[in-house]
Amino acid sequence: MAKNKIADPLVNIVSLCKRRGMIFPSSEIYGGVGSTFDYGPTGVEMKNNISRLWWNEMTLQYDNIVGLDSAVILHPKVWEASGHISGFTDPMIDCKICKARFRADQIDLPETGDSQCPKCGSKNSFTEARQFNLMFKTHIGPVEEDASVSYLRPETAQGIYLDWKIVQESSRLKVPFGIAQIGKSFRNEITPGNFIFRTREFEQMEMQFFVKPGETAQWLEEWRTRRMNWYLTLGVPQEKLRWHRHDKLAHYAQDAYDIEYEFPFGWSEIEGVHDRGGFDLTAHQTASGKDMSYFDDESKERYIPHIVETACGVNRIMLMLLCNGYHEDEQAGETRIYLSLSPKVAPIKAAFLSLVKKDGLAEIAEGMAKSLRGKIPIFLDNQGSIGKRYRRMDEIGTPFCFTVDYQTLEDQTVTVRWRDTLQQDRIRIDQVQDFLLDQLGLRL
Ligand code: GAP
Repeated sequence: MAKNKIADPLVNIVSLCKRRGMIFPSSEIYGGVGSTFDYGPTGVEMKNNISRLWWNEMTLQYDNIVGLDSAVILHPKVWEASGHISGFTDPMIDCKICKARFRADQIDLPETGDSQCPKCGSKNSFTEARQFNLMFKTHIGPVEEDASVSYLRPETAQGIYLDWKIVQESSRLKVPFGIAQIGKSFRNEITPGNFIFRTREFEQMEMQFFVKPGETAQWLEEWRTRRMNWYLTLGVPQEKLRWHRHDKLAHYAQDAYDIEYEFPFGWSEIEGVHDRGGFDLTAHQTASGKDMSYFDDESKERYIPHIVETACGVNRIMLMLLCNGYHEDEQAGETRIYLSLSPKVAPIKAAFLSLVKKDGLAEIAEGMAKSLRGKIPIFLDNQGSIGKRYRRMDEIGTPFCFTVDYQTLEDQTVTVRWRDTLQQDRIRIDQVQDFLLDQLGLRL
């Protein structure tokens, strides 16, 4: 029997995501696979918005940062050279009574005295800690032998290191420059959990910035500032974000900071900004025998570039925005749930509703939706009670509802209802497109 079971602080968010078909457990008809999730229609839109905003921020803003899409399965020697085979491990312990498995570094294990299993409450029931490699092993081709062993990438960064020279030469980039990549990574986490916070399959957004040796400290500072500012542009308040500097560094790092967000389950990492020094390119040069150096035309020096990386996860950022946006208030004696998402992030930007279906009102709403379809993600809903239609839009974070009513027939105006404040203004139909473009920051 579980003792002192703590209520899941994400329960309302998990339930909302499922009810609205945003995010739900994968393979559910077979009972699900531990901590894997599928993103439904509105979930995938929101996830894509986050990736697009990151991509625009990291590549379109700078003429010295370019994109890449490298493979998930790399040569197995990559992971030897990178240190992942020997060092990408977590200490794992099992409870001998209930067989539950934990990361030894995540639970309180005093050297002496009582240590208690968080699942069954048994005392001193743990096995010795064993190192567990987090990489997913697979085989290339039909024969499952040692020679065919390969791994699903646990980070997107390595693909960038392998390709950095071809990208630099073909794009005629000069140090300092960056390569950005978005893609799936896989980690056989011992204790996945907190909904989509820690899963075994997730999507990373990483940028590797190549600099002259000796210049990493100043670039680390620059990227720390730029990355923190980006979260503010997504509507996350500064007081919910903080820096954490690592005392224990990963095998590749010279210096490392995390941006943490105050989740309902506590402060936790959303992004790492790391000084990786010359570790990665030197390791790949040694292991592959290929020259990884760069010739600096201006200083006439040859050197292996050093790297500052920014590394975040789309899913984790999405969870942060869901937690940050989740609100409940009371309207006419009923609880209203709404997601206060920035219009840039919201899956649907505007809904078009007619107060009633008859007297030509529905046709006007349809015409408005038609004129924007294909340009802005919108939703048309003319069916059912207006209150319920508003609630559905509030729950998926739609920032604006435009409602056609009888006054529309007289003066060609509709109401625009603001999701968070519930303020309603009248606006001319021919001004709706510009209003939305302004709200989305898309007007050139
Ligand atoms: N290349 C460096 C690197 O991968 P990391 O701190 O291990 O650094 C970077 O991961 C980001 O990837 C994290 O801040 C987090 O947002 C995301 N991430 C890592 N493991 C994850 C997991 N199991 N589930 C969801 N997101 C994860």
